[in-house]
Amino acid sequence: MTQAAPQMPIYMQRDGIEPVAALRRIREDERVLRLGNPYGIDAFLVTRYDDVREVLTDPARFSNRRPARLAEFDDRSPEEVAQARAGNLLAMDPPEQHRLRRMLAPEFTVRRIRRLEPRIAEVVDDHLDAMEQAGAPAELVSAFALPLPSLVICELLGVPYVDRAGFQARTSRQLDMSLPPRERTALAHESRIYMDGLVTAARTDPGDDLIGMLVREHGAELTQDELVGIANLLLEAGHETTSNMLGLGTFALLQHPDQLAIVRDEPDAVGPAVEELLRWLSIVHSGLPRFAVADTEIGGVAIPAGAMIILSLPAADRDPAFVDDPDRLDVRRGAIGHVAFGHGVHHCLGAPLARVEMTIAFPALVRRFPRLALAGDPADAPFRAFHFVFGLERLEVTW
Ligand code: HEM
Repeated sequence: MTQAAPQMPIYMQRDGIEPVAALRRIREDERVLRLGNPYGIDAFLVTRYDDVREVLTDPARFSNRRPARLAEFDDRSPEEVAQARAGNLLAMDPPEQHRLRRMLAPEFTVRRIRRLEPRIAEVVDDHLDAMEQAGAPAELVSAFALPLPSLVICELLGVPYVDRAGFQARTSRQLDMSLPPRERTALAHESRIYMDGLVTAARTDPGDDLIGMLVREHGAELTQDELVGIANLLLEAGHETTSNMLGLGTFALLQHPDQLAIVRDEPDAVGPAVEELLRWLSIVHSGLPRFAVADTEIGGVAIPAGAMIILSLPAADRDPAFVDDPDRLDVRRGAIGHVAFGHGVHHCLGAPLARVEMTIAFPALVRRFPRLALAGDPADAPFRAFHFVFGLERLEVTW
């Protein structure tokens, strides 16, 4: 069952859960494929592991900043564009990006995040209790996969969890690439208005949370727009990605019962299993596009200055030059170095948090419900087509 909508770009297409075969052929044959582009900018798709890492490692050659030329396709004023970009680390290059990242990095170290483990375990148990009490069947995305990272990031940031319906819907639609850009821009603006209220309140009465910390420790050096942008990025990236990993990861495990049994029965295998699920699923199709700063080449293909570079993270993570038998889900593989969290200066800031959440959630779920099974035909699974983050709309399960 191919998920291709008519104009969905090749690097977002999946065949069920798998990247489409055409992507593998591109990796083997062209290596770097020239794509058409509606904005009249040359665009290239990079598919091999080494090439993807090379681009991600070199922000001086491959910039995250949108070239001025693209502004002519934007009907917002320069001030509105600047405001929308403020605080968004992913839209910046070092040293500008580094200035913000160094304020956040201490909050996301492995050590700091491990302190959240007891609370995350409690949130996981509460949601499993509720599922058990309500009885089978259940819809796992709304009962478990989405609320868990949403509640955790709300508590970490200091965002009221009662507001979840609003921010979850806005984020999901903002990242739905099938919607017109104007609609997605309007949703992003609404998100900023929502966050502006929280940041303004924190400026008067900073709480014991991450937004409060930013106000107390960096309030003088951060503009209001920057604070709003940082908090928004963390809220959106903090729930949308992990929830899709939990939903899709459970779906993948249920279709590989031998692999699920390892996660259920062998506590030491859970960490490597999470890494393998991240690699095998690579739910972020491509991350943000990069732009060539000057004429250059990637994998022997000439890239003109200003060209847009799209990196296929699933193609890279399934490159046989990276791991043997890459299309096989093998939770014992212990693959390190996948690019599912990106690589280099923009490597996912929240990776330690996402890892802790998944390392607690997957085994807890399959231990609580040892007979967990898909309630429907996997061929009917509602994949989120054409979305910045791949995943499942819903996952009906029983036990
Ligand atoms: C399984 C879950 C997650 C996945 C697969 C994921 C994936 C990624 C990827 C691929 C990038 C790099 C994009 C690029 O270079 O174009 C990234 C960056 C980022 N992620 Fe995550 N992410 C996850 C969870 C989280 C969480 C939980 C948070 C926040 C708490 C978060 C916050 C961020 C931020 C702030 C950046 C930008 C870092 C920078 O530009 O310096 N992510 N993520």
